[in-house]
Amino acid sequence: EKGGYATFMEKEINEQPHAVGDTLLGRTDDEGRLVLDQTELSEDDLRSIDKIVIIACGTAAYAGMVAKYAIEHWTRIPVEVELAHEFRYRDPVIDEQTLVVSISQSGETMDTLMAVRHARELGARTLSICNTHGSTIPRESDAVLYTHAGPEIAVASTKAFLAQITASYVLGLYLAQLRGGTYADEAQSVMKELQGMPAKIEELLGRMGRVKEIARFMADTRSVLFLGRHVGYPVAMEGALKLKELAYIHAEGFAAGELKHGPIALIDAGQPVFIVVPSPDTAHGLHGKVVSNIQEIRARGARTIVIAEDGDEEVVPFADEVIRIPQSSPLLAPLLSVVPLQVFALHLSTAKGLDVDQPRNLAKSVTVE
Ligand code: F6R
Repeated sequence: EKGGYATFMEKEINEQPHAVGDTLLGRTDDEGRLVLDQTELSEDDLRSIDKIVIIACGTAAYAGMVAKYAIEHWTRIPVEVELAHEFRYRDPVIDEQTLVVSISQSGETMDTLMAVRHARELGARTLSICNTHGSTIPRESDAVLYTHAGPEIAVASTKAFLAQITASYVLGLYLAQLRGGTYADEAQSVMKELQGMPAKIEELLGRMGRVKEIARFMADTRSVLFLGRHVGYPVAMEGALKLKELAYIHAEGFAAGELKHGPIALIDAGQPVFIVVPSPDTAHGLHGKVVSNIQEIRARGARTIVIAEDGDEEVVPFADEVIRIPQSSPLLAPLLSVVPLQVFALHLSTAKGLDVDQPRNLAKSVTVE
């Protein structure tokens, strides 16, 4: 049942090209329109949306953060991302022109379900991005976009995360086309690039030998930091979460720009830091800013493990390790950059002799508030 892999998590990490490919499959009709799995929302409803609020928990919330960067860029609709349990118990400013998008692998997370109900009571339109057919959250939503990651057995989410990001790109590209505007044309070419991502993920999975070795050497590490910027910021957060869950190591992810506002004080000799470097094509010179961050922490003794695109040579002088990912346009990079972090957590957990698929204190689906 584990298809020759030692753990479900390893199997699911290796299924990620399919999770992304299958989530894209049959998504658009002949005219390039998005096919929702179930919808009570008309195109007019979707055209009138003036705000999107994404609600989710844990890994799904990091997928939501990635979605924010992409959807705002393509559609110019303001997008907020909020943890479902925080959203539920405040007075959010939403109405029938708000599209509340929930993201949930299981479709049964109670915190997320309660937030969806709250949104409906307030009159919002609700759309569920979910991996489990017929589960409660999609049943209680106005529209559904199923991710096709297949069943995820390991407690720690991997392939569902990539599928969630993929589905939210598709939603963003659809809204961009529906509403016209500057990015409607770009939407077509991004969709094409998205179709090519499974092959890049496959290629990347074949390069993970060094990551596995690094993880083995680090079995005694007590703390690991993860830095990212732009869409690499949620990827850094996800890398830290995977490590906490699987290896019970103190791990923290933060936005690279925050470094000088406090966290740089944590850096001392030998502190391992993963840096998710933005693609050199990222707007506003963000790549150079992150390269400076790597230089700063290295000067203070950090051990820098850098995740950078093929061909990005600027990082090399400041990196103790460079983990290469295939090139992609900046907004799609999370589908690649998170993979080495998943593999790292998996092998560190294994090196510590821990139960990868069933980490202590955790359940696959959290059905209590
Ligand atoms: C992390 C993880 C959790 C879930 C979260 C939401 O590896 O599995 O953080 O992502 O509990 O679960 P779903 O997506 O089922 O709502």
